[in-house]
Amino acid sequence: MTMKISAHDYDYDLVIIGAGVGGHGAALHAVECGLKTAIIEGGVIGGTCVNRGCVPSKALLAASGRVREMRDADHLKMLGIEVGDVRFERQGIADHAENLASTIRNNLTNSMKGLGVDILLGNATFRDNHTVSYGNKKCTAQNIIIATGSIPFVPPGIEIDGKTVFTSDDALKLEWLPDWVAIIGSGYIGLEFSDVYTALGSDVTFIEAMPKIMPGFDGEIAKQAERILIGPRNIDYVTNVLATKVTPGIPGEKPVTIELSDFKTREVVDVMEVDACLVATGRAPFTDGLGLGSINVETQRGFVPVNERMQALDKDGEVIEGVWCIGDANGKMMLAHAASAQGIAAIECMCGRDKVLNHNSVPAACFTHPEVSFVGMTEEQARAKGEEEGFEVTVKKTSFKANSKALAEKESDGMAKLIYRSDTGEILGMWIMGLHAADLIHEASNAVNQGMKAQDLKFAVHAHPTLAEVVDEVFKQVGSTVAH
Ligand SMILES: Cc1cc2nc3c(=O)[nH]c(=O)nc-3n(C[C@H](O)[C@H](O)[C@H](O)COP(=O)(O)OP(=O)(O)OC[C@H]3O[C@@H](n4cnc5c(N)ncnc54)[C@H](O)[C@@H]3O)c2cc1C
Ligand SMILES: *[C@@H]1O[C@H](CO)[C@@H](O)[C@H](O)[C@H]1NC(C)=O
Ligand SMILES: *[C@@H]1O[C@H](CO)[C@@H](O)[C@H](O)[C@H]1NC(C)=O
Ligand SMILES: *[C@@H]1O[C@H](CO)[C@@H](O)[C@H](O)[C@H]1NC(C)=O
Repeated sequence: MTMKISAHDYDYDLVIIGAGVGGHGAALHAVECGLKTAIIEGGVIGGTCVNRGCVPSKALLAASGRVREMRDADHLKMLGIEVGDVRFERQGIADHAENLASTIRNNLTNSMKGLGVDILLGNATFRDNHTVSYGNKKCTAQNIIIATGSIPFVPPGIEIDGKTVFTSDDALKLEWLPDWVAIIGSGYIGLEFSDVYTALGSDVTFIEAMPKIMPGFDGEIAKQAERILIGPRNIDYVTNVLATKVTPGIPGEKPVTIELSDFKTREVVDVMEVDACLVATGRAPFTDGLGLGSINVETQRGFVPVNERMQALDKDGEVIEGVWCIGDANGKMMLAHAASAQGIAAIECMCGRDKVLNHNSVPAACFTHPEVSFVGMTEEQARAKGEEEGFEVTVKKTSFKANSKALAEKESDGMAKLIYRSDTGEILGMWIMGLHAADLIHEASNAVNQGMKAQDLKFAVHAHPTLAEVVDEVFKQVGSTVAH
């Protein structure tokens, strides 16, 4: 006789491991769907984004951006403004970031408590596909979501002391302002910190392993970013080199030494001495102690393998009944809003409503001054795909130069470009660099999400005068050459 275990035999309908933004987003949606839900957290509620990521970094960018603006006498003069000496208090800016993180953290905690989500403290370990233990307790659930996130990736040879050689975890505390800081990696985290540091008076040197700086960006956007975000600032860079050995120093006494090696030959080419070094070489999934072996999961470069419905897969690629993984831990797209969107999609699937998140519709942004944002592919990726699959690619672009609102601010640097299939009008990507680019990208990401074509955007109306008219101008260029 076989006996089907009913949901009533489990302590919960859903247990979520990790209370970052992914776990939080999943918990809120689970409650809405009537699931009895618990969330287990071994560190600080809010995870990376709230405590060591998006939130404090945006606070630092807001404050330092204001300093940059107020010290830009030429720009202010064009607006008819003159200010005296602009001073800031480093600790005050650091406190702003810390206070914001704690406000958001408290609200996030309260929102879950208010909805009746049980918050359980401890590090969770799988016993089987319906059971986890945490501390000296355990609980069972019909479904378990792994949302354990990520930690900074530190390449071998780099010694972190948290003071002179550090990752974003420590940089966000803004404990001091080094005169000269080397940033290893020119991805969005490195770039955002270069914006903060240079605004507050530090010099920055990027160390990049790839042949070009900002390797993840669309080529044309990277060129603009170099002209706007790098050129005019106290920033220089070396490319094609790896930081193979980094040794901490003592602030004001002994410099940090960085051994640079050729990316290809691995021969040492230089040794740099700087005051501090920020290691921004990406993030590694965090699955330590989860006991994935007991549910037959083999991680791939640390990531938990999942299918497009976020169901965890075992060693043979088979779905493990009741186990899901969302957010940074599955590596599909390491962004806060991607984590919660994946969580919501997973809950929908659990509740019998099939939902697959279209990752091509998930926007991304780099919150420098000005911002860079995008959705989908770079022009290079789109053209490569077109060549492979036999379609033409059309690119329409415009600048911020003629936009009334940008001109009113005297901040008309930047451009927007839309990339689509010439034959069908399928939107392949959009990139924006300029004032409030991160807010402007959603029109394109929502269009992709709804399966709209480039030609569907042509007749949309935008208020005048707004920055959104930059996007309007690109959409209006979509030609009648698009077939349908
Ligand atoms: C400096 C910086 C800036 C960033 N800026 C942005 C941004 O502007 N926009 C954006 O979209 N993204 C940004 N990100 C990325 C964003 O922070 C992550 O994508 C996001 O936090 C991932 O969410 P998550 O829920 O998957 O994991 P996390 O936020 O990492 O949360 C995982 C949680 O799980 C807990 N945990 C781990 N293992 C266990 C266990 N076994 N048991 C119990 N609990 C466990 C951890 O303690 C942690 O609290 C930034 C990241 C950094 C580092
Ligand atoms: C925090 O939550 C309270 C109560 O729910 C709300 O009034 C307040 O606006 C929230 N603050 C933030 C910063 O979200
Ligand atoms: C969970 O694990 C982390 C890192 O492995 C550790 O720092 C933390 O203290 C643990 N939490 C608890 C509640 O034991
Ligand atoms: C998971 O649990 C179910 C019971 O819901 C069981 O039938 C199944 O064999 C288990 N799957 C795996 C992969 O362990």
